Amino acid sequence: MVLNSDNLKKLYIEFFKQKGHKFIPNVSLIPENDPTVLFTTAGMHPLVPFLLGQPHPQGKRLVNLQKCFRTSDIDEVGNNFHLSFFEMLGNWSLGDYFKKEAITWSLEFLTSKNWLGLDKNRIYVSVFEGDENVPRDEESARIWQSLGIPKERIFYLSKKENWWGPAGETGPCGPDTEMFYDTGKKSCEKDCKPSCPCGKYFEIWNDVFMEYNKTAEGKYELLDQKNVDTGMGVERTIAVLQGKNSVYEIEEFKPIVDMLKKISKITNEKQEKSIRIIADHIRAATFILAEKIVPKNVEQGYILRRLIRRAIRHGKSLGIEKDFLSELSKIIIKIHSKDYSYLKENEEFILNEMKKEEMRFRKTLAKGLRKFNEIAKNLKNIDGKNAFLLFQSYGFPIEMTKELGKEIGIDVDENGFEEEFKKHQKISRVGAEKKFGSGLADTSEQTVKLHTATHLLNEALRRVLKKRDIIQKGSNITPERLRFDFNFDRGLTDKEIKDVEDLVNEQIKKALPVKRKETTLDEAKKMGAQAVFEQKYGEKIFVYSIGDFSLEICSGPHVKNTKELGKFKIVKEKSISSGVRRIRAILEK
Ligand code: GLY
Repeated sequence: MVLNSDNLKKLYIEFFKQKGHKFIPNVSLIPENDPTVLFTTAGMHPLVPFLLGQPHPQGKRLVNLQKCFRTSDIDEVGNNFHLSFFEMLGNWSLGDYFKKEAITWSLEFLTSKNWLGLDKNRIYVSVFEGDENVPRDEESARIWQSLGIPKERIFYLSKKENWWGPAGETGPCGPDTEMFYDTGKKSCEKDCKPSCPCGKYFEIWNDVFMEYNKTAEGKYELLDQKNVDTGMGVERTIAVLQGKNSVYEIEEFKPIVDMLKKISKITNEKQEKSIRIIADHIRAATFILAEKIVPKNVEQGYILRRLIRRAIRHGKSLGIEKDFLSELSKIIIKIHSKDYSYLKENEEFILNEMKKEEMRFRKTLAKGLRKFNEIAKNLKNIDGKNAFLLFQSYGFPIEMTKELGKEIGIDVDENGFEEEFKKHQKISRVGAEKKFGSGLADTSEQTVKLHTATHLLNEALRRVLKKRDIIQKGSNITPERLRFDFNFDRGLTDKEIKDVEDLVNEQIKKALPVKRKETTLDEAKKMGAQAVFEQKYGEKIFVYSIGDFSLEICSGPHVKNTKELGKFKIVKEKSISSGVRRIRAILEK
């Protein structure tokens, strides 16, 4: 049987369930309560506290399927195997098994006839070569050899290739071992080996041995527990299993690529790359829009804008002059709705926003390209002012100007652009980008405090507004403030706002203990605990109580006692959509 992605996901989860793993849910692409990242780039984001030692309610062995979005390799998108949005299967050991079991099970799953049945003779692996901080990973190499992978197919590679994490500047990380499948293509050159970008060796899976914590000083300290974090790329593995040359040829991409080929005038291979970029970017943009993010000039909205505008520009280079993105998005929604029903539920919003952004950009694109050519004609280098002009008047994201420059061998002064940007908008877009690059779930003191304050606010609203069915519709915490969305159909009066503040501050003054209890979803419901998205919870969960005041399902972390919080103050209350209000609040010292 030739496997498709549904079968692969089922098999993987079944295999690891048989090895004692519990399935945990696919979380949102927009991390909740993590101000240090814009997107979920890997399965580890929601698991950071547990990799650092907090007990996970489901135990020490977990398995998941996580949708991820990364821009770190965005320039590689369009080759045979890079995607910005992809699905990743993973098995996790939180201080339980380590290298031997992880590697043994990986090879068993890949090659056993009962599972994927891939040819063991075509499996190549890489292990970490070691550096001044961390030793060469001879142990993993020995394990591979003991399982029948000969020395000649084991490669020692550098940190750039064989290291994963931390998700941000600091946090859990470690060396990994990576698995590649020899596609049978001719080697590109003499030392073509796993990690060579020519695509002869298709990387499909990595096992990360997360036993280090990177500190703010850049040191690597051993963690209290040894973790395993593995990641199998679904699209890549399907390409290998189906004998396809690239991820763009698998079932999930074929209708997208076919539609683009039909409406474009493609004549050469370079244009094929544009088709792939559009396919990848609009798939990612569709998923981001489904999170109710809209195109903007900062943060997630900026990344979304960049994806959409780059796709339109590549479309133009293929001769596509008419709006096409919402049609494309419709196809993408159809393909993925069976797994992600919220795509269908938000279809109208997604298509509308896609149309609006396309209309907006098409108005200025042709003129902008003419302006770019005019500027570039007599120059070796595009300065910050001109790059900013292209952004401000023609809507060209700086990355697009850089890409256009690269195509004709011209540099663009990105720092100069940032200076201009700051002068005009007083916001650092670089800040937003940096934030995107980093990623540790920020468990800094202040965010933990604001998280506990969010629970108090949630309950205080129900009590003051005398409406028990008020629930959390969204939450976002930065070290400076909390943001809380909830269902209510009118604005709060000044008195109500003051009453909510007073009630929260009363609980802070009472010095209530904050306690965690492990239980099941049913039990928690019986106890009357607040929940957010029921479908997201696993078999076992944590319930946090704050004295007798609040009871909420949550994985934490929280302060130990409300007296640590300081003074609670609401700074803003407004409507964000019909029937949904948003509160911003702070804790003063
Ligand atoms: N398993 C780590 C990653 O590739 O995301």
